[in-house]
Amino acid sequence: MKTPKNVFVCSACGYQTIKWLGRCPDCGAWNTMEETVPEVQAPAARTAVKSGNAPVRLDKYEMPEYMRFATGYRELDRVLGGGLVNGSVVLICGEPGIGKSTLLMQISNSLGKERKVLYVSGEESCGQLKLRAGRLSVSSENLYLLTETNMEAVLAQCDALKPDILIVDSVQTMYSDRFTSVPGSITQVREAALACITKAKNEGISVLLVGHVNKEGGISGPKVLEHMVDAVLYFEGERRQSYRIIRAMKNRFGSTDEIGVFEMTDGGLAEVENPSETLISDRPKNVSGNCAVCVMEGTRPLIAEIQALVTPTSFAVPRRTVGGMDYNRACLVIAVLEKRLGLKFYQNDIYLNVTGGLRLDDPSADLGIALALISGITDKILPDGLVAFGEIGLAGECRAVSHSDQRIKEAARLGFSHIVLPKKNEKKTLTKTGAALCGVSAVYDTLRFLRGKDTADESGN
Ligand SMILES: Nc1ncnc2c1ncn2[C@@H]1O[C@H](COP(=O)(O)OP(=O)(O)OP(=O)(O)O)[C@@H](O)[C@H]1O
Ligand SMILES: [Mg+2]
Repeated sequence: MKTPKNVFVCSACGYQTIKWLGRCPDCGAWNTMEETVPEVQAPAARTAVKSGNAPVRLDKYEMPEYMRFATGYRELDRVLGGGLVNGSVVLICGEPGIGKSTLLMQISNSLGKERKVLYVSGEESCGQLKLRAGRLSVSSENLYLLTETNMEAVLAQCDALKPDILIVDSVQTMYSDRFTSVPGSITQVREAALACITKAKNEGISVLLVGHVNKEGGISGPKVLEHMVDAVLYFEGERRQSYRIIRAMKNRFGSTDEIGVFEMTDGGLAEVENPSETLISDRPKNVSGNCAVCVMEGTRPLIAEIQALVTPTSFAVPRRTVGGMDYNRACLVIAVLEKRLGLKFYQNDIYLNVTGGLRLDDPSADLGIALALISGITDKILPDGLVAFGEIGLAGECRAVSHSDQRIKEAARLGFSHIVLPKKNEKKTLTKTGAALCGVSAVYDTLRFLRGKDTADESGN
């Protein structure tokens, strides 16, 4: 038998070649080729589904009971599609220090009330984990800690302990003896994940994997990792701000539109059940350039505040600083206002921001952005009780958006007295609330809401 030659594998994308190359021809990354011994054992030894199954007719197949259990955090359960599914594998990714280990330690505590949890850490010692557990007031009797990086040893301990939930923090630190490549390399990450998936599917253990992210913000390791697991959750947020948002990028058992909002406190992550209330809790009053907007995050309406500061420029090219929304979308709204309303933004610097570290990707924020900008440049204020939603077209028209009734209910619940919305949405609205609906068909119609600072009152008309 011929001895297998060494191969070079790109650590960024997994591309294989028999010669060393400075630049990967597949993904274009430099200096990522690592020499490894090709796998001697059959790679198909571990698969997510047992082999040797006979075909079965769909209508004859008896559905196993896919049990979901609550993690103790409603915000996380919503993102998971109603709770953690028995025998599923969930990958949680996020920037360093965002709070992945904190979240998992907290959910181990609540899951540990009824189930046995094995927390495997390849990054921290038992002492460090205990320290964190103390800070988070975790005191479950069913939570077992294991500091280990060898996947075979983890599986052996798992067989001995028979936990209901296995947490691996992080999959990039695990390695298998069967391969010579370093932990964190494509082969090792894939192998560790596959070992966990096999365990989950064959024995019904729910597995939570922590994944690192690379410089670009993607999951480090092979792309195939995302295909292999049942759900991929991203944990994101501005590190300087305390809000953390958990978002599903893939979910085999639920929608990917939902988000969960947490706040990082001294005692760990706390759920924010009413994000709208928190986001607008300390709104400035009687100040120009502010407008509340109502956007949809999945099935949930959220109220956020847009702030626009418009100041005369001293540069040849005026500055445009945009935070919390798409830069190009903001430029589009600015251009529409310049063209359709004749506002001279080209003589001004513009600073646009969304309070609370939220990112608005929903085009229904357009109308709010426009109102904040108009208020900012004219230095006239909007009534405090005004909230806006609607999409703006290039002709300056205001287009209808979806989920109008839900948005109206949320705005009314939070005490807004005037809701500015597209005229088409106003006509179709069946919801009756105490708030006045002010339909607009073009950006020009919004000018009537602005008031001079001295005559500011709560009337919208
Ligand atoms: N004593 C403390 N008081 C308040 N917040 C703290 C305290 N200790 C840690 N934190 C918060 O917890 C965060 C670290 O959380 P955690 O270790 O869970 O992050 P991680 O995502 O697991 O990071 P890594 O990728 O490095 O493992 C810190 O960034 C900080 O915000
Ligand atoms: Mg960690």
